Amino acid sequence: MKKQEIKFEYEVYEQSAALNESDATLLEAARQVTSKAYAPYSHFFVGAVARLHNGETVSGTNQENASYPVGICAERVLLSSAAMLYTNVPIDTMAISYNNSNGASNSPVSPCGMCRQALREYEERTGYPIRLILSGMSGEVFIIEKANQLLPFSFGSNNMK
Ligand code: THU
Repeated sequence: MKKQEIKFEYEVYEQSAALNESDATLLEAARQVTSKAYAPYSHFFVGAVARLHNGETVSGTNQENASYPVGICAERVLLSSAAMLYTNVPIDTMAISYNNSNGASNSPVSPCGMCRQALREYEERTGYPIRLILSGMSGEVFIIEKANQLLPFSFGSNNMK
């Protein structure tokens, strides 16, 4: 028997003002686009904006439904749009924020398990990691170099061979 360890480092910034200009701009765009979320049930308005390798940006917001499981997270709305608008163009960085009308939005958002799986597949499909910038409308910012770091032991195409 041997024990193995998975280590995961990420960057923590006190606030968006500490980011470089392009990251700060992307995070600001994610904060702004939360206003386009459709979240009448959770009142948790999520916004995501990605910068692609071709310099274009694509955004997404959560789209809820009275039949709750039909709702889609901001991240997967974004990935679907990117796949259609800029097929096969890798995503460099995705900023994700949220505006929670039930409470404070001053700590980083954490993508759900289903979105982590979708992000991981997008990385594999395009052959490039997706950098994540996570934050609320204010406060600390986390930067994660590769989205798949959020999903160790993930299931992927290699598990089906
Ligand atoms: N949600 C997202 O859109 N992204 C996340 O990273 C976390 C959760 C949405 C799903 C649902 O519409 C609402 O936030 C509350 O879970």
